[in-house]
Formats: sequence, C-alpha cells, structure tokens
Amino acid sequence: MERFYITTPIYYVNAVPHLGHAYTTTVADCMARFNRAMGRDAYFLTGTDEHGDKIVQAAEKSGLTPRAYVDEISGHFRALWPELSISNDDFIRTTEPRHVRVVQKLLQQIYDAGDIYFGEYGGHYCTGCERFLTEKELVDGLCPDHKTKPEYIAEKNYFFRMSKYQGWLLDHIKANPDFIRPERYRSEVVSMLEMGVLEDLCISRPKSRLTWGIELPFDTDYVCYVWFDALVNYLTAVDWPDGEKFGRYWPAVQHLVAKDILKPHAVFWPTMLKAAGIEPYKHLNVHGYWLVKETKMSKSLGNVVKPLDMSWKYGLDTFRYFLLREMRFGNDASFSEEALVARRNSDLANDLGNLFNRTLSMAGKYFGSRVPAPQDASGDEDLRGLAANAVGNFVRLFGECNFSQALESLWELVRGLNKYVDAQAPWALFKEGKTERLAEVMYGMLECMRKVAACLVPVMPQAAGQMLEQLGVMGTPGLTDEADAWGLLKPGNVLAQASTLFPRIELPAADDAAACPTSAKGEMGGKGKVAKEAEAAKPAAGPKAKADASAKAPAEAPGEIEFPDFQKLDLRVGHVTSVERHPDADRLLLVQVDLGEERPRQVVAGLAEFFTPEDLAGRQVVLVANLKPRKLRGHESQGMILAVRTEAGMELLTASGSVAPGSKVS
Ligand code: MSP
Repeated sequence: MERFYITTPIYYVNAVPHLGHAYTTTVADCMARFNRAMGRDAYFLTGTDEHGDKIVQAAEKSGLTPRAYVDEISGHFRALWPELSISNDDFIRTTEPRHVRVVQKLLQQIYDAGDIYFGEYGGHYCTGCERFLTEKELVDGLCPDHKTKPEYIAEKNYFFRMSKYQGWLLDHIKANPDFIRPERYRSEVVSMLEMGVLEDLCISRPKSRLTWGIELPFDTDYVCYVWFDALVNYLTAVDWPDGEKFGRYWPAVQHLVAKDILKPHAVFWPTMLKAAGIEPYKHLNVHGYWLVKETKMSKSLGNVVKPLDMSWKYGLDTFRYFLLREMRFGNDASFSEEALVARRNSDLANDLGNLFNRTLSMAGKYFGSRVPAPQDASGDEDLRGLAANAVGNFVRLFGECNFSQALESLWELVRGLNKYVDAQAPWALFKEGKTERLAEVMYGMLECMRKVAACLVPVMPQAAGQMLEQLGVMGTPGLTDEADAWGLLKPGNVLAQASTLFPRIELPAADDAAACPTSAKGEMGGKGKVAKEAEAAKPAAGPKAKADASAKAPAEAPGEIEFPDFQKLDLRVGHVTSVERHPDADRLLLVQVDLGEERPRQVVAGLAEFFTPEDLAGRQVVLVANLKPRKLRGHESQGMILAVRTEAGMELLTASGSVAPGSKVS
C-alpha cells in the first residue's frame, strides 16, 4: 500500500492561532483526506514549538512560568483543530519527553560523526527569527522580516558543519525537480546555494543566556538552538530511529510550510538529515502569505483574522473551500469577508447548491425521489467525457498541491452540468412522455453530482458527506478510479427531495457582526459545536440568508400583536397556474396564482433556488393577498407566497386537502 506522511510547521506558542496557522493546517488536512481517499495509508502530524527566547519572553509578559505558559497556549492550538475538522493523527509538543530523547540522540549521532564542533562566533542575532543573520541578510542593518536591529552577540558555541553539505544539497535539488515546490521557491533556494557560501550553523545557546531548551547531551552548560530542536519533531512523531512508524512513513514524508520558514526547511533540515544518515524528505510544499489589506497579518498590527470567527459566521465548509480556492498555492492572497461571501454565493450557492437542489427536486417529481434505472446506463458521451476530464484534472492537480486550479477544474463539471440540464430540459422530456430519455438524463446528472461530492470530501467533509447522503450513497467513496468510473450510483437509491446546503448569504451589517456570537469572547469549544450542527441554518446566526425571511432567529421576531393586527392580513389559498423564470434575476420566479378572481395574480417569488417552474406549476399555495403591490426587478408582484425553511430545503404552506381557489385562511 502506498504511504503518505504530511506535516505542518509546529507553531510557536507565543500567540494564539490565527488564519495563517489555520490555512496551513487546513491544507494539510485536505491533503491527508485526499490521500486517504486515494487509498493511501496516510499519517498527518501537527503540533507546537515550545522552546527558545521568544517563548520565555512571552511567558514573562503574561506573568506565567514558561511551563504554565506553553501548556496554556499549546492547549489553544490543540482545541482549535477539531473545531476546524482537522483530522491529525498526532499532536506533538517539543517539551514532551519523547521529543527530548530523540533530539538528544540525533545531536549525539551527528556529534559522534564529527559534524558538530565547538567554536567562537560573533553574529547578528534576531530574537524574532531566533537565529543569527548573516551580513548579507540584513537590510540597512535591520532584520528584513522583523524590521528590528539584531543584537550583536559573541560567544562560544557548538556548530553544525552545514557548509560541508552545500554541494550535496544543490545536486540533490537539481536531481529532484519537485523536491521543493512550487518552482519559484525551488529556484530561490538554488540561487541561494549557487551564489553564496553556506555557513556552518550555530546550534547551541549557553545556559547563562537561555535555559528553556533541550540540554546538549555532550555539554550540560548548553541547550539546543530552537530550530535544530524543532525540525526534529518530524522524526520524533514517527519514533525515529527504529519505530515501526518510522519505517512505514518516513520514505513518504512531505512538509508543508509558508515561505517565512523556507530556509530552515530547505537548507538546515535536509543537511541535518544527511549528516545523520537519514533520507531527506520527498517534498517541501511552500505556500505564500495571507494578507489583510496588502499587509501580512500580525498581532502587533491588530489585523489578525480569527479562524473560528470565520467558520462560525460563514460555516466551516465554506471557510475551508474559500481557503483552498482563493489562494493559488505558492502566491500570496488577500483575505476579506467580502471575498469569502462572494465565493460562497457564486461557487457554492449559485453554481453548486442550486444545481444540486434542482436535480434532486426534478428526480423527486419525475421518479418519486429514487435514482432512475435507465435502459442505457452508459451516459451521454459528452457528459461522461466532461466528467472524466474534470475529475481526472482535479485529482492530478490536487496531488500536485495546485488546490485552487483543482477546484476550478471540478467547477468545469459543475458549470457544464448547469448547461446540460438547461439543454436537455428534463421538464420537456417529462411533458412529452419521453420517460426513457428522461431516465438517462437524470441518471447522468445524479451520477455526476455523486462524482462532484466524492471529489469535495477532502475539502468540505461535512457538506460533501451530506450531499452523498442526500444521494443515498452509503459510506465515503474513494477517489482512486473516480475519473474513469461511471455508473457507481445505484438505481433505486432513495434521494432527498431537496437540498439547501449553501443558501446565498449577505455580508452581515456591522451591527449584526457585533451581535454574532462568535468565538471572539474566547469560548472556543461550545460555539464551534453549534456552528457545525448549524451549517445549513447558520446564516441566520451570522450573515443573512437572502431568500429566507423565515430563517430569522426567534429573538428577532416581532413582539406580540393584537387580534385586530392579525385581522389585517388577508391570507388566501391559491392555485399556481403557470410559472416562468424572471428574465433578469436568477433567484426570482414569476408565479401566476389563481385566487378565484377574474385573472390570476402575478407574484414575484424568491423561490428559484428551491423550486423549478415545473415543480411549482399546479401546486396549491397560501398567499398574503392584501400585500401592497410592488415592482420587483421590473415586474409587478401582487402578494406573497408563504413557505417554510426546513433542513432539506423549502416547503410551501398549503391546506391539507384540496380547497377552492380564493378560500380565506382564518
Ligand atoms: N515554530 C516555527 C516552525 C517550526 S517547524 C519545525 C514557526 N512557527 S510560527 O508559529 O511562526 O508559524 C509559521 C507558520 O504559520 C508559517 O510557515 C505558516 O505555515 C503559518 N502562517 C503564519 N502566518 C501566516 C500568514 N499570514 N499566511 C500564511 N501562513 C502563515 O515558524
């Protein structure tokens, strides 16, 4: 069985998690889930980096001992991940005894091999980077990342003979073009190695200056440099040197990091491994930064985005989809709630949600919510070709870390299906009694929806799981042969009647956002749970669901009214005689309702996301008949059809039996 081992950086515990940490961990989670779906034995590691100056300073600031401080902040990271559906197999902390043992063993091994020596060094030390910067790295005498003046420190220390491996590393990178990816970071490292001489790496700190670290096994007056300690976590978690997991997963290890820590991962780490006689990793996958208004997020700038807030407000699956779709892996991307809402509405509500709901409701109407059994189940050639292509590209691009392009490719199928349904017009086939062709078309649509859901499992585990459930699919399908597979959806499966997985949402007004019960108050556990359970209904808690007046929370309902107020309402039973789509508004239908009057009334209803015109025609509805007429997108509306939002979609209000048109509801 093929193996897959993915790691995130272990995060410093000098601050609570933010969007940047959530992004890397979410991507790693999607990769792990994707590889599991590809039938691989996958192992996924994340954790926290807890030694060094930075941590000691942060602990001092908060008035805690380093131990109490790291326990607390590490706990925040550990508690966050399940809230974001992160499926890590292990969570490592560098203060754990298992890690201390492995670091000391590795140090001793490299020391015994002669690649660690004692020497004197004077250098520019940046506390932010936790390392000595070379003269060349300084910009106007400042650290380019932290914009602070490093401290000049001269002291006796231990050094790792990194320079010895410069030639080897360059050759290795050249011989393995995807060792570091994407290409821009690979060429950055290649030019760094070609242009300059690699210096040896100072790997110790005298205890006179820092005690919060792992003691060197060969000199108790020193602790290990935090980066040398931290990188080794990837080995600790798989029980190097002789654990079963080491043999099983190490040959398949890939790291995932942002560009800020390219050098330690692309230069320090492979040379450390080489010196210890351990195979280097397979891939280093490097992504860019999330920016907020063109600036990198940072606590000091106060522009930090809290991942749980976003997940709570917009739904976890929407948040995860946005992260993967919006950032081209390797490039920087801008985060804004406007961009998130735009993606939700265009990709998830309009393209996918609408299509899925239409497909289910047609299957309900034409086949009693069962997957039809077409005589010819091989599907239309064009549709099959489109699906094979889109899914094939999705799988390839996802495996290459091109997540945004992979989703784009999958959406070619989603958009293609939207065109297909309009071109095939199942409602016309139904009217004309072409049942056999109708079964073929509907089966093809449903089978393609199954494929889309299967591909989305790694990215949106909950929503994709719900889609599969609504298609009557048991268990989670794999992706191994999905591109070529056809006909896996079983005829006869019971389908949901409708689906409202992704209602359109609006950006909450500033007041709503303030009232939104997010984790801003620090109540991580409980709130996240509510968010999960409320994915479909969530917009009522944060952004407003557009076509859904009934989704308002009870607290927003008006207070009591007097009986005469109620009497003002003229509610009537009506029969829908015909329905058309609004020519200029995707969400609106023009519904003609017979109220027993001379002519039917026209109602402009925001129901297009939930019903096709064919679904509504002939239905008995309840109408607010004395609502003042008004124009909606250029068409007069003379009343309002009453409907109820349910888990599965939208239900029309009606009388339990057949009632004469125009009957008053009282
Ligand atoms: N402790 C080291 C890593 C040691 S790994 C052996 C460290 N920690 S960190 O807390 O600073 O995390 C850095 C990582 O967090 C980045 O590499 C990236 O994965 C993530 N991000 C932090 N801010 C980010 C953005 N603004 N944008 C994208 N990712 C970001 O470095």
